[in-house]
Amino acid sequence: MKIIGKVSDCTFIAEKLRRGGVTIGFVPTMGFLHQGHLSLIRMAKKQCDRVIVSIFVNPTQFGPDEDFKKYPRDIKRDTALAEKEGADFIFHPTAKEMYGRGHRTVVVVKELGNIMCGKYRPGHFEGVATVVLKLLNITRANRVYFGEKDYQQMVIIKKMVSDLNVDVKVVSAPTIREKDGLAMSSRNRYLTKKERENAVILYRCLNLANEMIKGGKRNLAQIQKEILGELNRNEFLKKVDYFEFRDPENLEEKSRVESSDRRILAAVAAWFGDTRLIDNMVIKL
Ligand code: PAJ
Repeated sequence: MKIIGKVSDCTFIAEKLRRGGVTIGFVPTMGFLHQGHLSLIRMAKKQCDRVIVSIFVNPTQFGPDEDFKKYPRDIKRDTALAEKEGADFIFHPTAKEMYGRGHRTVVVVKELGNIMCGKYRPGHFEGVATVVLKLLNITRANRVYFGEKDYQQMVIIKKMVSDLNVDVKVVSAPTIREKDGLAMSSRNRYLTKKERENAVILYRCLNLANEMIKGGKRNLAQIQKEILGELNRNEFLKKVDYFEFRDPENLEEKSRVESSDRRILAAVAAWFGDTRLIDNMVIKL
C-alpha cells in the first residue's frame, strides 16, 4: 500500500490506472477508521480493481465552534487498518495542499444543504460537497462509496454528481452498529461512560418509529411529538436538534404516511454532553 500526500502524485497515479482500463474505487474519510469505514473499503475492494482511501479532516466542513481541532486523528492505526482491508492507496494531504493556493470556489447544493443537519451546521454541506468534488477529480474515481449513516450527505453527493454530470457512480452502504445498536462514529469516543450507555436511545427511538408506522400509525407529526417527548426525558441527552420524517429520495418533509409511500426516512440529531450524534433509519412499508 502506498501513502500519497501530494495532489499531483495522486492524480498522476490514478490517471495512469484509468488509462490502463483499471477501475478505481474511492472511499473518502476523515480517518480514525472504524468498522463502518472498513465496510466501505471492503465493498470497494470487491467491486473495483484498485481502492483509494482518503484520510483528510476537512477544515471547511467544520463550523467555528465545532470540533475540528479535537477531531480524533491516528494515521498510523488508520493506515494499518486500511491496508488489512486491501486498500491500495491512502491519500492523506495537508489542508495547505488541498486549499493552499487561495481557494475561492465552493459547491452549493441548494435547499438540500440547508435542512436537517444543514440548519444546525451552516456551511457544513458546502464544505462537504466542495471537498468531495475536489477528491473525485484528484482520484479519478469510477465508483465512490458513502455510508447511509450520513444519509443527508449521501443524498447531497448523489445530487451534486447528477447535477454537475460528474463521471462517477455513487454507491451507498448500510450503517454499521455497535452490539447495542449505536451507530459507529469516530465521535463516539468523546462520550463519557454514562453518555455512551444512554446514546443507544437514538437507535431505540428510530425502532420505535418503525414499529409505530408498521403498526399502522399514519400521523407522522404525532409520532414525531411522542418521540421528541421520549428523547427529551433522557437526562444525559442535552438537546435534540431534530427528529424528523422525510422522503428518502428528495428529503422532503413528511407529516403523514400516504398510501403511495414505499419508504420513509426517520432521521435524528442530538447532543450528549458536548457530542453531537446523528442516526437514521429507512422504514420500509
Ligand atoms: P467520515 O465521518 O470519516 O465518514 C466517511 C464515510 O464513512 C462516510 O461515507 C460515512 O457515511 C461512512 N460511515 C461513517 N460511519 C459509518 C457507519 N457506522 N456505518 C457505515 N458507514 C459509515 O463523512 C465524512 O467522513 C466526510 O464528510 C467526508 C465525506 C470524508 C468529506 O470530508
